[in-house]
Amino acid sequence: MTSAVGSYQQRRTRLLQRMQPGAVAVIATAPEVVRNGDSEYPYRHDSYFYYLTGFAEPESALVLVAPIGEKPARSVLFCREKNPEREIWDGYRYGPAAARLAFGVDEAWPIDELDAQMTRLLANAPALYYALGHSAALDAQVSNWLKAVRAQGRIGIMAPSTTHHLLGILDEMRLLKDEDEATLMARAASIAGGAHARAMRFTRPGVFEYEIEAELLHEFRRHGAQAPAYTPIVASGANVCVLHYNQNNRQSRDGELVLVDAGCEFDGYASDITRTWPVNGRFSAPQGLLYELVLQAQEAALASIVPGRRYSDMHEAAVQVLAAGMLDLGLLDRKKYGSSADAIADKAHLQFYMHGTGHWLGMDVHDVGSYRDLTHEARPSRPLLAGMALTVEPGIYVRPGEGVPEQFWNIGIRIEDDVIVTDEGARVLSGAAPKAMAEIESLMRGQ
Ligand code: GLY
Ligand code: MN
Ligand code: MN
Repeated sequence: MTSAVGSYQQRRTRLLQRMQPGAVAVIATAPEVVRNGDSEYPYRHDSYFYYLTGFAEPESALVLVAPIGEKPARSVLFCREKNPEREIWDGYRYGPAAARLAFGVDEAWPIDELDAQMTRLLANAPALYYALGHSAALDAQVSNWLKAVRAQGRIGIMAPSTTHHLLGILDEMRLLKDEDEATLMARAASIAGGAHARAMRFTRPGVFEYEIEAELLHEFRRHGAQAPAYTPIVASGANVCVLHYNQNNRQSRDGELVLVDAGCEFDGYASDITRTWPVNGRFSAPQGLLYELVLQAQEAALASIVPGRRYSDMHEAAVQVLAAGMLDLGLLDRKKYGSSADAIADKAHLQFYMHGTGHWLGMDVHDVGSYRDLTHEARPSRPLLAGMALTVEPGIYVRPGEGVPEQFWNIGIRIEDDVIVTDEGARVLSGAAPKAMAEIESLMRGQ
């Protein structure tokens, strides 16, 4: 828990305000997952649960009861009991009494009592909110709770008659970051930006991709980031054109590029940064031409990020610049396409730029929230609001092929930054990662 307890309380209150009076919401955390044998993957809480509690222990659930009439709202945490024997092996656990005080909930119970308490909490509640169809285990548990409450029908107890999908509400809440979240995201981006700078300083011809990856991971951990936010991509040579490359086991060579897409998770929040640099510290002329083009595309995309403009505007802005550049540099045929608009209409740019220009960013690297305005029948791309966080990541990837100018073969470039939308426009969080060509080159020269 790193945000103030009050922030989690405020989020619970905002959710309660969106619920039907007297209704009950259940949010369970993620299960522990076995890797193999007696080993588990490092534990990662469920993002929704953590968003509302700040509580990172496994085997926990949060129940919220919305106010009705004279009855106030209630928040109830279920967690593991204290267990001196287990704590010798696995370390400290709060237990309900300490968790209630530390996390500011009204009640806390041992997780083993969840079924019994749910029968009590759901009695006469008009509606139940939960993550419908999200986990087979939770679906089965909910069905058992409802059966248990219905079984009391003869003594006049009513079971909820309606279920609501909880995630739709929470996704919209998570889409707009509060101040605590923005602070944590800035920290995650600043650590990862520093890691990219460190990786640049370290790179020289002959290093293996995994050696560069090790520099990144070292920098993440030494600044307190708990984990990479996703499997890092460290690609050299022709691998720079493999979008989801992550074997990271090739030896780099003089004259090639290295493309690194790596971000860390800091106290539950992700950063997601890509930089591309020359293995030998100097961009070749063709590498430089494409690098400047992608940088210009990113600048155009960033300039389109203003409250009120649509989410898709940044992609359109980037594609416009990239397609024009592809024509100028001979990647697309001028004789075939009179203008960038013609090339875009024919989807010709997709040969070299085949992905979107970004995504929401937050607790999840591809964060939650609709990309469309669901209040309109046509569902257009949604207008941006201050507080939304997203990545801006145009690129260009030139695989060898007939008619493709050879000087650009195996050049792949992506430049990805993390931003928060403010009233003034995009606030870039990942500025610690050098981006201008001259800045990268002088850093790699050791200046
Ligand atoms: N690193 C994942 C992405 O850029 O979407
Ligand atoms: Mn991304
Ligand atoms: Mn990325």
